[in-house]
Amino acid sequence: MTKWSPNSWRSKPISQVPAYPDKAVLQETEARLATFPPLVFAGEARKLKKQLAQVAAGEAFLLQGGDCAESFAEHGADNIRDFFRVFLQMSVVLTFAGAQPVVKVGRIAGQFAKPRSSDNETRDGVTLPSYRGDIINGIEFDAASRIPDPARQTMAYRQSAATLNLLRAFAQGGYASLENVHSWMLGFVSDSPQGERYAALASRITETMNFMSAIGISSETNYSLRETDFYTSHEALLLGYEEALTRVDSTSGDWYATSGHMIWIGDRTRQPDQAHIEYCRGIKNPLGLKCGPSISPDGLLELIDLLNPENEPGRLTLIARFGADKVGEHLPKLVQAVKKEGRNVVWSCDPMHGNTVTAAGYKTRPFDRILREVQGFFDIHRAEGTHPGGIHIEMTGKNVTECTGGARAVRDEDLQNRYHTHCDPRLNADQAIELAFLVSELLKTKTGGAEKKAANA
Ligand code: PEP
Ligand code: CO
Repeated sequence: MTKWSPNSWRSKPISQVPAYPDKAVLQETEARLATFPPLVFAGEARKLKKQLAQVAAGEAFLLQGGDCAESFAEHGADNIRDFFRVFLQMSVVLTFAGAQPVVKVGRIAGQFAKPRSSDNETRDGVTLPSYRGDIINGIEFDAASRIPDPARQTMAYRQSAATLNLLRAFAQGGYASLENVHSWMLGFVSDSPQGERYAALASRITETMNFMSAIGISSETNYSLRETDFYTSHEALLLGYEEALTRVDSTSGDWYATSGHMIWIGDRTRQPDQAHIEYCRGIKNPLGLKCGPSISPDGLLELIDLLNPENEPGRLTLIARFGADKVGEHLPKLVQAVKKEGRNVVWSCDPMHGNTVTAAGYKTRPFDRILREVQGFFDIHRAEGTHPGGIHIEMTGKNVTECTGGARAVRDEDLQNRYHTHCDPRLNADQAIELAFLVSELLKTKTGGAEKKAANA
């Protein structure tokens, strides 16, 4: 194999690459980005890898989620706060039900670049380059907006830094205390039309917290109830940007992507001989790999060899995204092959990208299909004796109408009301928390939950 360097991807074929009209300006921008401070540190990425190794060992659960595409227009404190609140509520529900730590990874502070099924988009007889995410071009359907503009990379970097700054403050500054998250969750349960179904779990959490408080364990006395670990992730699609933020870690001498803690390879850019795999194989961060219906067991093993030749647990998360109707056909043979070859991986379920349909002229995802794919994922892992390690979802903390269904049912005709996504439809706040409660029922039956752990203690 040829020697890796942060720019060795440049000599490989590449898919999903934007056509920048002015290469000189692009180079100047990348050179300038390369002088900017890293967004994350190698030590943080290593810590996340350790926590993911626990997931690989069946001792923790991964919750990964956020926007399909972050946007410049939606950048603001309220959006970040609302996302974080919903995400933490999901995490508490899952932690309690599974009686296991939940590793929290946002699709945030860097999730800007989008792969597209076509290079062009045609509307009313006018054809323009497709929108590829705010880091590349503008979503407005006019010729000027759709020209890839390198200055957007600098804006995306600065937005990522600001977002990460607020997230770090929330995570470490007391806002994420268990007491706060618990009271938000009780608010959700009392407002939800399906509240009765969730009340039992919620009141067990309340009892547990009352008990802990009675014996003197509270966020005042215990930092682990006051603070939380939260990590960032995005698809490593725009490799010039990634290269500019690739840095040597001075303690280990290894290369790290410092654009986010974890990066993943999309389903459209995972060709083993191409640029995206080449870039990702050389950095030491934890990696995700999207696995869709076109991947075969041998193809997957080849990619695992390239991305994790040392079989290091926590290095590689396989994100299965087949669709509710296809998961049963595709996932078992992949799980069997990986298990047979003894590869250490995290298996996570993305129940979003295989379940997109069109309704009332909008791209949407029916909640019941999302749930059915997660259920299929759990059933398959249980049958194979492997760990259903996590979920990967597109969600927002806002009350949008982008996915149909849920307890407070969004109907096809409601989609037009608050359809704000810059790319794929996201679960809204209620749908996301509801999904966590429903997944918690699956987790409980797998591990026996809190009772089983207690009985064995
Ligand atoms: C995504 O996660 O937004 C995405 C494009 O997914 P995939 O690569 O699985 O299609
Ligand atoms: Co998406």
